[in-house]
Amino acid sequence: MNGNTLHNSAFTLSINQKNSTKRREKMCMSDRHISRRSVLAGAIGVAGLSTISRLTPTFATDRAPSRGFLWGCATAGHQVEGNNINADFWVYENVKPTLFADRSGDTCDHYHRYEEDIALTAMLGFNCLRLSIEWSRIEPEAGNFSEAELDHYERVLETCRKHGVAPFVTYNHFTTPRWFASRGGFTTPDSADLFSRFAEKATSRLGHLIEAAATFNEPNLLQSVFWRKKSLAGSPTALQMGAAAAMATGSKQFTTFYSGDPVIALPHYLSAHEMAYAAIKAGPGDFPVGVTLAISDEQGVGPNNLARLRQKESYGVWLSAASKSDFVGVQTYSRNRTGLHGDLGPEPGIELTQMGYEYYPQALGATIRYAAAATGKPVYVTENGIGTEDDSRRIAFIDTAIAEVKKCIDDGIDVRSYIHWSLLDNFEWIYGYRPKFGLVAVNRTTFERTPKPSAWHLGAIARNGMAR
Ligand code: BGC
Repeated sequence: MNGNTLHNSAFTLSINQKNSTKRREKMCMSDRHISRRSVLAGAIGVAGLSTISRLTPTFATDRAPSRGFLWGCATAGHQVEGNNINADFWVYENVKPTLFADRSGDTCDHYHRYEEDIALTAMLGFNCLRLSIEWSRIEPEAGNFSEAELDHYERVLETCRKHGVAPFVTYNHFTTPRWFASRGGFTTPDSADLFSRFAEKATSRLGHLIEAAATFNEPNLLQSVFWRKKSLAGSPTALQMGAAAAMATGSKQFTTFYSGDPVIALPHYLSAHEMAYAAIKAGPGDFPVGVTLAISDEQGVGPNNLARLRQKESYGVWLSAASKSDFVGVQTYSRNRTGLHGDLGPEPGIELTQMGYEYYPQALGATIRYAAAATGKPVYVTENGIGTEDDSRRIAFIDTAIAEVKKCIDDGIDVRSYIHWSLLDNFEWIYGYRPKFGLVAVNRTTFERTPKPSAWHLGAIARNGMAR
């Protein structure tokens, strides 16, 4: 890793920890089996819990496939790579009017700095990085696959393996190629074929390096968004932005994840998931494949509340899709309170995060239990985090969330990862660069990475969890 690009104090730490990272990698390569006791030791230290379970997962080693507990951080291509110019959202960001507070632009320049970021992930103590491969880079025009971009992602995954970091790959994290959006996105009947063709092509090159994969990131947002009290999806600016994007691309059908009619798109998304699942499972590689869902702790308030209906409509169909896959990915940020007439929003005066969500880290326990019971499948926590400028609140959030994971495992639920959103402060979609979800701050001009105290804190939990 190029330590010079880190903040001074972080640089000192990076040098000191480099050796221990090497030692750890060595140990892991020669000693692939660790007990669940050790996986959770860090969590217990922090959360002050006393009981532990007896399962024995294996540990992710260099290249060898494994099924160990994954302690990771998450990223997504469009949010960190930079200059993702063939993506549909790039169009949205660059038309007027736009809902987007900022343009993604260079974002974290992760496309060029991936090695530094992967080394940093390992140095902090994590054994997993969740990342997405960008369809619009790999297939910039319909049917034209870029060997150079596949090479790029192959290098990224190989770099993960080199650093002892298991790559959890998302095949689609919201953005699609412009050409795909221009022909109607997932509202067209052949969209599933096109997505699975991409999945097949990408897997044929990258499959042997993948640890676990998700077809889609949070496809259920389309169903759950209608229950939100405040949603910008149908706002006048959103409609004008859509019209401007259609004009800019010369397509009347310009349709993104954000804008597609969910009733029309849903069956195509479901087939796309099923077909991509089959394409990825065909190999090369032999790893679990699932779908990650945005799941909140759905709490009913008062008699005859609609919480169960909301839960069914927001998650039902996708939980059933997950039950036919290898796992369900749980992504939890808070709870929802639902009354007789729908969403109640947070109680007045309650602590809110930068996204306006209630600070409610204990939600993760409820969502893991719900997803596990509904699918009967192993649970991967693939996102959990908080947008805040106050890193001490992130640390407190992490401790409570991990204590919930621990309780679930103690109760016999098969939880296989805790992957925090996010590794880096990055491009938070329409909210631009204001919300800070990162364990690591990124200087917007120099791209210098500075781990926050929460990065060392969660890294230590991960590291202790992996020590014997
Ligand atoms: C998404 C991420 C997003 C995060 C924080 C998740 O819903 O997968 O892309 O940045 O939440 O809002």
